Amino acid sequence: MAILITGGAGFIGSHTCVELLDAGYELVVVDNFSNSNPGVLKRIREISGKEFVFYGADLNRTGQLEEVFLTHPIEAVIHFAGLKAVGESVREPLHYYKNNVSGTLNLLALMEKHGVKSLVFSSSATVYGNPECVPISEKSRLHAANPYGRTKLMVERILQDVHAADREWSIALLRYFNPIGAHPSGLIGEDPNGAAPANLMPYISRVAAGKLDELEVFGNDYPTADGTGIRDYIHIVDLARGHLKALEKVFTSTGVEAYNLGTGTGCSVLELVASFEKASGVRIPYRFVDRRPGDAAICYADPSKAQSELGWSAARGIDEMCRDGWKWQTLNPNGYRTE
Ligand code: NAD
Ligand code: WQD
Repeated sequence: MAILITGGAGFIGSHTCVELLDAGYELVVVDNFSNSNPGVLKRIREISGKEFVFYGADLNRTGQLEEVFLTHPIEAVIHFAGLKAVGESVREPLHYYKNNVSGTLNLLALMEKHGVKSLVFSSSATVYGNPECVPISEKSRLHAANPYGRTKLMVERILQDVHAADREWSIALLRYFNPIGAHPSGLIGEDPNGAAPANLMPYISRVAAGKLDELEVFGNDYPTADGTGIRDYIHIVDLARGHLKALEKVFTSTGVEAYNLGTGTGCSVLELVASFEKASGVRIPYRFVDRRPGDAAICYADPSKAQSELGWSAARGIDEMCRDGWKWQTLNPNGYRTE
């Protein structure tokens, strides 16, 4: 029996594949490379020393996806595949709903048809919108503020309904906070498309590498100690390991449960910049600009439910995240595009 990993060529998927292969799982990975590069597959094999099956398939191409279920006995699915850029989702909402919601519906229909009822879903802290208070527990109010966030919230609700209709389903909704860093080998990491990444850490990395001139810090008038926004950055390897724990959970119980995967500690933009400068030995030029519309001031997790129910907690701190992120950047200045 194998675990089906959708979106396994992506940032979080690739790191999770390494952890699952290390733990001895058999994997069938599906990705359409809409936001990833085939070069990652070789790197996953290189780190783990293990083989896995790969399909270049799209979740919305039912025939392609069904071939996977017909060819391999699938025990459970970890569903990463989705588009994740907030700004793009505002400009192209239909593209996001089709990819993230319809793609998931296709997957769920095939799971139901083939009797696969164990699922770990990549949700996001974005489902909390602008939080009313921190730390954010799973019981906090859900309020998505953009089409991307709404796709996550819609899928969470669809999954609640799927379980309500058939109690044999076992579903973990993993609400990730801000994953950053890279595998300590420097062989896999985040490789965002586009000249200027939208997220903070890849932007800092590119400034440090001299590919971008300076960082724009979005706002220095937030009610925080240094005036910049606070987030819960989590090392990608810690996040990946959370999936192993969630998988064990869906194998041993039925139900649908949400879990925050974060460290529980907030870090400001300027603190992340300082830690990155320390890790890289490179000064990061920055200037303050206006707040980015829609940004929350402070957002960090209460991860105690994942700790008590999954036996998972994050072990790596900001300095390690920056060290591993910088190693990935320096060893792979063009990401996977050299392959
Ligand atoms: P990513 O873009 O690196 O990985 C997603 C992968 O899915 C890509 O390889 C892409 O090619 C693939 N994909 C997209 N649509 C597909 C489709 N229709 N068929 C097949 N493959 C498809 O993103 P990531 O950072 O690894 O995120 C993985 C998941 O976690 C996403 O669902 C994302 O929304 C969610 N998430 C990410 C973050 C984050 O900050 N990175 C935070 C919270 C939640
Ligand atoms: C972090 C902090 C910015 C860029 C996003 C999505 C969320 C989730 C994770 C998927 C904020 C500041 C940023 C820059 C800056 N993804 N910043 N200059 O906004 O917390 O979350 O990614 O689910 O849904 O919204 O992450 O990395 O964009 O920003 O000052 O050039 O860095 O204002 O305080 P965010 P981020």
